[in-house]
Amino acid sequence: MSVHSQIKRITTNTLHEMKSRGEKISMLTAYDYSMAKVVDEAGIDVILVGDSASNVMAGHETTLPITLDQMIYHAASVVRAASRCLVVVDLPFGTYQGNSKEALHSAIRIMKESGAHAVKLEGGEEIKESVERIITAGIPVMGHLGLTPQSIHKFGTYTVRAKEEAEAYKLMKDIQVLQESGCFAVVLEKIPASLAAQATESVKIPTIGIGAGNACDGQVLVIHDMLGLNKGFKPRFLRQYANLYEVMNGAVKAYISDVKSNDFPNEKEQY
Ligand code: KIV
Repeated sequence: MSVHSQIKRITTNTLHEMKSRGEKISMLTAYDYSMAKVVDEAGIDVILVGDSASNVMAGHETTLPITLDQMIYHAASVVRAASRCLVVVDLPFGTYQGNSKEALHSAIRIMKESGAHAVKLEGGEEIKESVERIITAGIPVMGHLGLTPQSIHKFGTYTVRAKEEAEAYKLMKDIQVLQESGCFAVVLEKIPASLAAQATESVKIPTIGIGAGNACDGQVLVIHDMLGLNKGFKPRFLRQYANLYEVMNGAVKAYISDVKSNDFPNEKEQY
């Protein structure tokens, strides 16, 4: 009996081909089995098991507290649901910045223990050695430039990055470094659309934007934000496709009311 699935899996090569033919790449985050199943079956190209799990799943202020073990738990749950899309997992803060050996060790743990297909790291020139070492081990790496939330305490705010010439210049250099190091794609977060367009034009690898305009080769959003689960979070770059907070809140209220009034369960709902 074959252990291989009949479904054709999206790979890093597929993403390169999509950029070549001008087909946009869709990416969303997911952190658990049920959500990943919905997203994969809807036809998404890439699921990112983002360290934004630290915010939307665990309720932390920043992405810094989430651990490698916790990321592996989320990633393994997503992998069990995803039969078609590429699954990329964030290396969490503190698991790759020390040195390239530590970075490789963390990336190997993610690949071995979750079954994911690639990892994502934040940064440019400063993480070059780690990126190269991970790729040498056969693990595909996605880069992440612009607003890099793991450096929030250095930036001080979540506002748009690289508006000044010096930072824009560094970003343009960093994207070249990531391409030369072998990254298969790069996330561009919260930078001016004109800079993202320039960066996208300057490389052969796909760029995936979040708050970076529509010239990027693809787009990514945090699923809780686009489904309207993250009440009150409405940055300019976000398009909200549903209001699940209201839907779920209404359903829970109806359930409470039915229990209190002894309407639930009725005769057909019991044995
Ligand atoms: O962790 C995350 O969700 C991300 C996306 C915002 C790109 O890195």
